[in-house]
Amino acid sequence: MTLVGSLALTVGCQRSVDQQYISSAAVGQLEPELQKVVHEQLRKRSGTPREPKLIGATPEETAQLKHGAEVYRRNCEQCHGVTGDGNGPAAQYLTPRPRDYRRGVFKFTSTPYGSRPRREDLMRTIDQGVTGTSMPAFRLLPKQDREAVLDYVLALTHRGELEELLVAQAESEGELPDEMVEELVAAVLDRWTLAAESEVDAASKMPPITEETIAAGAQIFQQRECFKCHGRDGRGGLAGGIEVGNDAWGRKDPAADLTSGMLHGGQLPIDIYRRISSGINGTPMPSFGASFADNPDAVWHLTHYVLSLANQRRRGVQYPQGETAAVDAHAPATETPSEPTTNEPAQADPAPAEEAAK
Ligand code: HEC
Ligand code: HEC
Repeated sequence: MTLVGSLALTVGCQRSVDQQYISSAAVGQLEPELQKVVHEQLRKRSGTPREPKLIGATPEETAQLKHGAEVYRRNCEQCHGVTGDGNGPAAQYLTPRPRDYRRGVFKFTSTPYGSRPRREDLMRTIDQGVTGTSMPAFRLLPKQDREAVLDYVLALTHRGELEELLVAQAESEGELPDEMVEELVAAVLDRWTLAAESEVDAASKMPPITEETIAAGAQIFQQRECFKCHGRDGRGGLAGGIEVGNDAWGRKDPAADLTSGMLHGGQLPIDIYRRISSGINGTPMPSFGASFADNPDAVWHLTHYVLSLANQRRRGVQYPQGETAAVDAHAPATETPSEPTTNEPAQADPAPAEEAAK
């Protein structure tokens, strides 16, 4: 055999080894018989990387799924991994880690706390990336590619969700009869159908941003003890060494630095409103919507305060090194801020966001 021939063979082998979905560790703990059923069911419902299937797909979605898998292989796999477990070759160098899709838990949603995201939420992440993290913006990919790769992300997510339910069922009942598997498949889909209809809208119309609303927000920030995690000046857990525990994927998750000018969940007032009102799935950031039910404007006031914090550095406010918890809350901005509407960027110049996404 020629050198080129044997090289091609090796590369070919490598490639086909890479192109298998990997089972979660929990599957390996089951009785061999049950492991076999789980593998068979997952293969039947979700296919393989080369012949993927999307649980609950329309024929139209199924048709573009292979294309989605190809877009994913080129643009996402190095971080999110072949199986969507967030464990691609680049992942070990990244903080925060790329999302492990298999739990079905997503952070930046427009749905109530604990819910699945809407399709629009995932598309927004793909279009805009996650500012301040390594998650890039893909808005330059053709629309068709973005739709297809989103379907493929859903295929990986549903596969992971079904795997988790199959393992739980196998552990508790010791068997996995077909009717039961059908029910579990339906349960996976139900959560997404429900989420699609559960968009959280602001409970009141956003009042105009004024010095008073910012000052009111600053006060609530202290009263409601946001500082216990975010630090007195909002600079977050890293600056102040404040530990708030792990995220759902088992990693330390310091509270966001609200002064960085690079809010991960989006820079629009409605984005910030939703983070405060609905919390952030899979992280220690709680949902405050219910506790402000009698005073919905309070969430807007907090939003205005967070916006003003996010603009501090741009205005040239200097922060001392280290310790944030000891520093007192910043006086609200002295200049009168611009007045964005809910769905428009709060600042004319989102340039730092673009940089961070690179
Ligand atoms: C350079 C690494 C990298 C690449 C490439 C990458 N991502 Fe990500 N992605 C991340 C990181 C890191 C996060 C987690 C951000 C966080 O937790 O705040 C993430 C999060 C996500 C999320 C979850 C958002 C949420 O609400 O929880 C989705 C969906 C996603 N990425 C889709 C994609 C798709 C689709 C592609 C390819 C078209 C892709 N990513 C490519 C690093 C990457
Ligand atoms: C128990 C700790 C904790 C408390 C209390 C808390 N947060 Fe958070 N918050 C977090 C963590 C952790 C994150 C980062 C989550 C992530 O993206 O991984 C966060 C993120 C946020 C974000 C999103 C930032 C971004 O980058 O998009 C906002 C806004 C926010 N918090 C506002 C508040 C406000 C306002 C309060 C009080 C009403 C509050 N938080 C109370 C832990 C907390």
